Amino acid sequence: MVHVGTQRLACHDWGGDGPPVLLAHATGLHGLVWRPVAERLVDSGRHVWSFDFRGHGDSGRSAEGYAWDRFADDVIGVLAARNTGLLFFRDEMRKACDEVRVWTDDGSEGKKGLATDAIREIQAEGPIAEVIAIGPVPMMKFVSKLTRELGIPTQVSLNPVMVDGTGMCGGCRVTVGGKAKFVCVDGPEFDGHLVDFDELSRRQAIYKEDERHAMERLQKEVR
Ligand code: FES
Repeated sequence: MVHVGTQRLACHDWGGDGPPVLLAHATGLHGLVWRPVAERLVDSGRHVWSFDFRGHGDSGRSAEGYAWDRFADDVIGVLAARNTGLLFFRDEMRKACDEVRVWTDDGSEGKKGLATDAIREIQAEGPIAEVIAIGPVPMMKFVSKLTRELGIPTQVSLNPVMVDGTGMCGGCRVTVGGKAKFVCVDGPEFDGHLVDFDELSRRQAIYKEDERHAMERLQKEVR
């Protein structure tokens, strides 16, 4: 049993003396369901633990309850865009996060600055456990660069050109950790510290000229 603040959590040490592995169970279960997996992992040279989440198994109960809308009580959402006209999902983000901070490049809404400024501000208030960045490639690139320097694990959601969406055409190929991945079947979430963003930017621009011609044709047609 370990004590975390006012809570006590039941921990199960499955033994072993290799690299550590911590197993977390699904909602409604408990840490002992991992027995068959834990035993195999120990046999393969890992030191394995599992635990019972609050309100599960032998762990204590949370005095605050377990409502779904409280699960994100420690999530700070950052909405960042070039200007106020390009910001969206304000209400959705407020429902999903404990707190939402707005930043715009030109200061037309919220604070003036970039997503990276927001991360620096939040990190100065206390350690960030993880960053999940979703948006334009340049933003995800510079967020990942910053969080690598700060040592914060970071997930990015990639948005390359996609054609068939089934892993057959190769259109969405990206390089992650030196290996080729297809975003449509292997992602779209990847470790931001391993993504080759420069290659992704180049591949995203492959059809720029065709897109410009198509837009000009469209504008002529609707005139
Ligand atoms: S969109 Fe074709 S392989 Fe992913």
